[in-house]
Amino acid sequence: MPRHAHGKIMIVDDDLAFRIGTLALLEDHGYVSTIATNGEEAKRKLAEQQFDLVLSDLVMPGINGIELLQHIKGSYPGLPVIMVTGFASIGTAVEAMRLGARDYVTKPCDNDELLIKIRRALEEQQKDRELRSLRDEVRGVYAFGNIVGRNSRMKEVYTLVQQVAGTDVPALILGETGTGKELVAKAIHYNSSRRDKPFVVINCSALAETLLESELFGHERGSFTGAHRQHTGKFEEARGGTIFLDEIGDVPMHIQTKLLRVLQEGEIQRVGGTETITVDSRVVAATNRDLTAMIGSGQFREDLFYRLNVFPIHVPPLRERMDDLPDLVDFFLKKHAALAGNRVTRFAPAVLPSMMNYQWKGNVRELENLMKRAIIKSTGDTITSIELLTGEQPEARTSAPADGSVQMNTSFREYLSTITRHAEESYLLQMLRLYKGNVNQIAKLMDIDRKTVYRKMGEYQIDPDSFRD
Ligand SMILES: Nc1ncnc2c1ncn2[C@@H]1O[C@H](COP(=O)(O)OP(=O)(O)OP(=O)(O)O)[C@@H](O)[C@H]1O
Ligand SMILES: [Mg+2]
Repeated sequence: MPRHAHGKIMIVDDDLAFRIGTLALLEDHGYVSTIATNGEEAKRKLAEQQFDLVLSDLVMPGINGIELLQHIKGSYPGLPVIMVTGFASIGTAVEAMRLGARDYVTKPCDNDELLIKIRRALEEQQKDRELRSLRDEVRGVYAFGNIVGRNSRMKEVYTLVQQVAGTDVPALILGETGTGKELVAKAIHYNSSRRDKPFVVINCSALAETLLESELFGHERGSFTGAHRQHTGKFEEARGGTIFLDEIGDVPMHIQTKLLRVLQEGEIQRVGGTETITVDSRVVAATNRDLTAMIGSGQFREDLFYRLNVFPIHVPPLRERMDDLPDLVDFFLKKHAALAGNRVTRFAPAVLPSMMNYQWKGNVRELENLMKRAIIKSTGDTITSIELLTGEQPEARTSAPADGSVQMNTSFREYLSTITRHAEESYLLQMLRLYKGNVNQIAKLMDIDRKTVYRKMGEYQIDPDSFRD
């Protein structure tokens, strides 16, 4: 049963007739009610039990309704209060609303009106609760929970996120496409004291220049053709929160100048406007472009770069943190299991080595997409292959070895053996890298005994110890 249908209400009034009449009315409509005859008693009961709503008289001896309201707003900020007032004190009722009362009714009360106001207040209260719990959930998720990776360079990223989250300085997130820059930006916001305020994203490469400018700073009515209405920009929208300027490297020069002003003075002007608006939003920017090179070629303002680059965070490309591959595979398997009705739950470890040698130009995003495809396409409960983009794999070991050791006068048997040996060596190296030299685990995954693994390593002069942390 939804909470708003049957809430727990406290009635506070020194007037016996009102208390009894209201109690009966509320109980008739399925609410659980408790009575307090004065402010002191109300305070005591609030401390002892949980209520969903307080219905309080304004004028009472001792602690009056306004004082009780202030106490409630201070100690139970989410608890709605409806004030009950005689005609004579409507002015005070308005004052009560200003102090945070949800609503007021006048005595003698119209039953229907009272019931409607109570229901509405309880519904709003329920919505607030849901929003709060959703926000808590989101906060939990972005407090690194959603960024997978234990690689030492990712741990450095987390440390930097935590450090910069505690400040208001701009952060610049650098990294190739698909490395998780946006996730890092969110982590900064949700780990900062701004977490309850908006996180506003603007993709600077997706918009034409005029549109980008008006999206960022807003515009006044009639400032350009098509500007029929006044429009609030993202900087204003992000007030008190964080604005994420994605693809900052694609911002045209003249907008860069305006961004510089925001960073220097914390001020903006809407397009076509004259009023100066103070903005208070933390700036987080990201790019996959080489800003230093762009400065060299005159495409990016050096002064803006230094403003943004106070706290750079480099997110490493996937190919440089291959030890995170098993965790990521696992994560995406769970994240997208629903694509195949939760049928696919396993990933054959033998698929991993082929992925180790891959370039991952699209980084984690590419991995996520390939995993989605594999989940959809797999027929059983296990993913047994991943379709890597062909032609992208460097030094594919299935072709003749690159060192040219295979001559045209080599017999086919020798040729095959050379290739097999190369494949075996490369497989072993990848497994060692992946499992940090843990021979037991590798033997298990390769389904051969430990001694054989050691013998083969000896053959290829591989030292498993050199792969341990
Ligand atoms: N470490 C990670 N753990 C889990 N998921 C990740 C990780 N890194 C990236 N992803 C996922 O990969 C996808 C791409 O990430 P994101 O959009 O943050 O990348 P990006 O660096 O902003 O890319 P681009 O430069 O193309 O905008 C998203 O679905 C994101 O959830
Ligand atoms: Mg991005």
